[in-house]
Amino acid sequence: MAEVILLSGSPRKNSNTVDILKTCAEEIEKNGLSTKILSLRGMKIQSCIACNKCVEKGNCVLKDGLDEIIDEIRQADGFIPATPVYFGTARGDIMAALQRMGKVSRGTDQFLSWMVGGPIAVGRRGGQTLTLQEMNMVFPINNMILVGSNYWNIVFALEEGTSGKDEEGINTIKLFSENVAKLINKIRD
Ligand SMILES: Cc1cc2nc3c(=O)[nH]c(=O)nc-3n(C[C@H](O)[C@H](O)[C@H](O)COP(=O)(O)O)c2cc1C
Repeated sequence: MAEVILLSGSPRKNSNTVDILKTCAEEIEKNGLSTKILSLRGMKIQSCIACNKCVEKGNCVLKDGLDEIIDEIRQADGFIPATPVYFGTARGDIMAALQRMGKVSRGTDQFLSWMVGGPIAVGRRGGQTLTLQEMNMVFPINNMILVGSNYWNIVFALEEGTSGKDEEGINTIKLFSENVAKLINKIRD
């Protein structure tokens, strides 16, 4: 069981978003917690169809693999979703996934309640803050604990493998990740 789940919304094989999540995972593990990086790559995530069957069945009934990701998050204490910026907003699949997770949590055992974390946006030039705002909406409505850093969780990168060049972005993400781990440890004290 991983204590912190990191979920990438990128479809790319050599994804900047996944690279950033690897940095997050390293910082969290330095603080004594286990991590697991999951990805929506290769998946076809459907939007919530408002069937409400999760209330009765305990998980999402759409068969695209998201129910397995939800099961992993259900066991965790921390959750960090990250996405590339597409046309100034989050890639559609990650928002569809977050909305379905929220619906399942609220309709069942509220597993997102007190989940510690926050979103990350990776883009070439513009839209990262709006992307964060979109993803941020999922946290408070699900009684989750949104963690800060010394800047917003945004990273600038275009071509594959270039996210490491954004030194300020990486430092922001490192502090955020350390804060996530420290807060989980404090809550457990
Ligand atoms: C369809 C599409 C739309 C994009 N729109 C934006 C955008 O609005 N703003 C931006 O800064 N970058 C934009 N990008 C660039 C990606 O966000 C950037 O390449 C990012 O590093 C991709 O992350 P990944 O490697 O994890 O997929 C776009 C890329 C694609 C494919």
